Amino acid sequence: MDKLVIAGGKQLKGQVAISGAKNAVLPVLAATLLTSGRNVIEGVPRVRDVTTMVRLLTDLGARLESFEGDQIVLDTSGVNNPEAPYELVSTMRASCLVLGPLIARLGEAKVSLPGGCAIGARPIDLHVKGLKALGAKFRLVQGNIHGSAKRLCGNSIYFDTVTVTGTANLMMAAALADGETVLENAAKEPEVVFLADILVQAGAKITGQGTDVITIQGVPALKPIECRIFPDRIEAGTYMIAAAITGGEVEVTDCMPQHVEPLIHKMQEAGVEIKVDDSSIRVKGGDSLTGVDVKTHPYPGFPTDLQAQTMALMTLARGQSIIVENVFENRFMHAAELRRMGADITIDGHTAIVKGVAQLSGAPLMATDLRASASLVLAALAAKGESVISRVYHIDRGYEAIDEKLMRLGASIKRLR
Ligand code: UD1
Repeated sequence: MDKLVIAGGKQLKGQVAISGAKNAVLPVLAATLLTSGRNVIEGVPRVRDVTTMVRLLTDLGARLESFEGDQIVLDTSGVNNPEAPYELVSTMRASCLVLGPLIARLGEAKVSLPGGCAIGARPIDLHVKGLKALGAKFRLVQGNIHGSAKRLCGNSIYFDTVTVTGTANLMMAAALADGETVLENAAKEPEVVFLADILVQAGAKITGQGTDVITIQGVPALKPIECRIFPDRIEAGTYMIAAAITGGEVEVTDCMPQHVEPLIHKMQEAGVEIKVDDSSIRVKGGDSLTGVDVKTHPYPGFPTDLQAQTMALMTLARGQSIIVENVFENRFMHAAELRRMGADITIDGHTAIVKGVAQLSGAPLMATDLRASASLVLAALAAKGESVISRVYHIDRGYEAIDEKLMRLGASIKRLR
């Protein structure tokens, strides 16, 4: 299992280009199941979750024509297998995104229930409830859910909790259902809006994306998808924090600053100098960081996927920061590891109280989930001495070549294979 060895204390300098958004490409790949033909997707990040999703789709009968550079060509004419195997679903929760498209396309889906996950229970009850409202019947068979419907029919669905992949799943299923579906309390994340826009380009009738209410008029068929994935806002935010935490100066290029506004504001409030252009963000760290309070919320609130990285930054800020995690019930796994580096963090339920310390020190560290691992990398970059981070497969699920990108910014980072 790969490890990252980081010698901390180097100020990062230079430019880093952001890759395509992992959380945008996964639903788009799932959406290719709604089509029958040659889908061409560009701007695809080279991350493990993409490889897993492509394997899943080929298992279902799609044919990967090519994956060259950042372009995937996927022929979905032969999709005929409704069963998503446990080995793949268990490694990536986003596999549940195939549930809606499979029922819409094949009238049937067998997907194993995602197991417990490091950041909380993360059930898919709202996906299932929504699909039931569209007429699907579900059975639980040996840890797999079997969903079936001769034909899905539009309905009105209210999400008790805002769910990103739940909204995506229902939008995809409803795109090929009979009649009108209205999704209320829908997710407004840019990845959901993008999926809606791509489905519209493929012939779907969807309105209201980006608001709480999305309306879908079902159509009989969709054309294959052709699109370019937009830049990853979480990757952009992570490199912004990398610049600040090392007191360096980094230009984060090829990104969409409007998607990271909550982080820009919080970092400015903490005393970081930030200059925003159309598609780049220049971040200059200083030595006068002040603690700020952060509460995570669904978009356009502060993203839960940047909470861990922000906590790493706050460990070195003057004074106290209060970080409240509102989206997931157990997303402070990184706190214990950061404490081992000398951070002063107290957890009370959904709240973390971080008291800034003058310095962190390198330590052997264990990555526990994708974004938690990013926070450990950030802390290690700023710490005195060497850190060895194990289980970096978590980070490779969602960050393209993070070691190479950081090395180009001057970090001392080595991958042990
Ligand atoms: C997506 C993102 C993930 C991000 C999360 C929140 C992808 C592939 N992943 O995950 O990176 O951290 O949004 O922004 O896009 N819930 C239920 N029942 C359900 C579904 C969700 O109770 O059926 C709860 C979850 O446990 C969680 C909350 O709703 O507490 C939000 O989860 P959700 O938005 O569904 O997260 P994902 O779509 O899995």
